[in-house]
Amino acid sequence: MNEPLLSVKGLKVHFPVATGTLFGERPVVRAVDGVDFTLNAGETLGIVGESGCGKSTTGNAILGLAPVTEGEILFDGRNVAAMTGRERQALWRDLQVVFQDPVSALNPKLTIGQSIAEPLAIHGVGNRADRRKRVDELMALVGLQTGQHDRYPNELSGGQRQRVVIARALALEPRVVICDEAVSALDVSIQSQVLNLLLRLQRDLGLSYLFISHDLSVIRHIADRIAVLYLGTVVEEAPTDTLFAHRLHPYTEALLSAVPIPDPLAERNKTSRPLQGDVPNPMDMPKGCPFVTRCPLRQVGCETIRPIAVEVSPGHRLACHVREREITGTSALDTAR
Ligand SMILES: Nc1ncnc2c1ncn2[C@@H]1O[C@H](COP(=O)(O)OP(=O)(O)OP(=O)(O)O)[C@@H](O)[C@H]1O
Ligand SMILES: [Mg+2]
Repeated sequence: MNEPLLSVKGLKVHFPVATGTLFGERPVVRAVDGVDFTLNAGETLGIVGESGCGKSTTGNAILGLAPVTEGEILFDGRNVAAMTGRERQALWRDLQVVFQDPVSALNPKLTIGQSIAEPLAIHGVGNRADRRKRVDELMALVGLQTGQHDRYPNELSGGQRQRVVIARALALEPRVVICDEAVSALDVSIQSQVLNLLLRLQRDLGLSYLFISHDLSVIRHIADRIAVLYLGTVVEEAPTDTLFAHRLHPYTEALLSAVPIPDPLAERNKTSRPLQGDVPNPMDMPKGCPFVTRCPLRQVGCETIRPIAVEVSPGHRLACHVREREITGTSALDTAR
């Protein structure tokens, strides 16, 4: 078996809250609260969930931009937290990120040619002429005309700007690109152009993507596997087709019921199950299942016993006592009695 390229084990990122209490423990925001997943070479793992569930914090922890409270991040078998400065420099070449907003990602004072050349210059790759040649290659790769070399970001469309950001991310030939809402700011038609570009680049360059989005239809288009995040934990993970055909977790069910179905008749007959109940405060999380306050399937014990993800079929992991019992005949709810 090949080792995964990226492996996240029991990751927790807790942020201390400025207003401390006088007595007892200092409150923390449990932004990421025990996340496990792996990313293999050449594949795309989609991470989906509502706003505030910890998607960006997970990505930021991998990039070293958020503090790891607990757990392990292994890149190519090496623990990211224990890396020396030199190893971390090498990691930055292998691991790149594309964020949502290409306007703030690009320096308005640099031409797009200069922006794309920036990482090459920082890492001392080639001389000026080599870099210019490489920039031309990268621009062609992402579908930008080389004549646009001397233009400024404000002279480009949103889609073109995101192509510049992607070209810059690819300059150092990374193996993994974290895409955090990379197409969310674009019009739907431009979204699919950029998604198709990412798919082509993956095929041609063998890239792996950790693709973070709140939008399941975007994730469906690009991901091989999907991890569904709820309040800082993975509640369900499965290959994309399996998740859409056999979703098991009631939260995934609710997320999917909000995705429009292309067939109008099917859309009209769809039994929509909007989420009820309140999202718990991430500073005061339920002891048991994080979804318990909104769950239509909840049973006695769900509020006190934290479900542990189990593999219910190959590659399909689920953290739900009730569904687990339906499938396997038993769950922690029975043994706790
Ligand atoms: N630096 C920080 N300090 C304190 N709390 C933070 C910090 N960064 C994030 N959080 C909190 O952690 C939680 C997760 O935030 P995160 O940005 O990871 O969510 P997200 O899933 O990316 O949401 P969105 O879809 O809106 O981008 C939120 O409750 C957020 O307020
Ligand atoms: Mg985010």
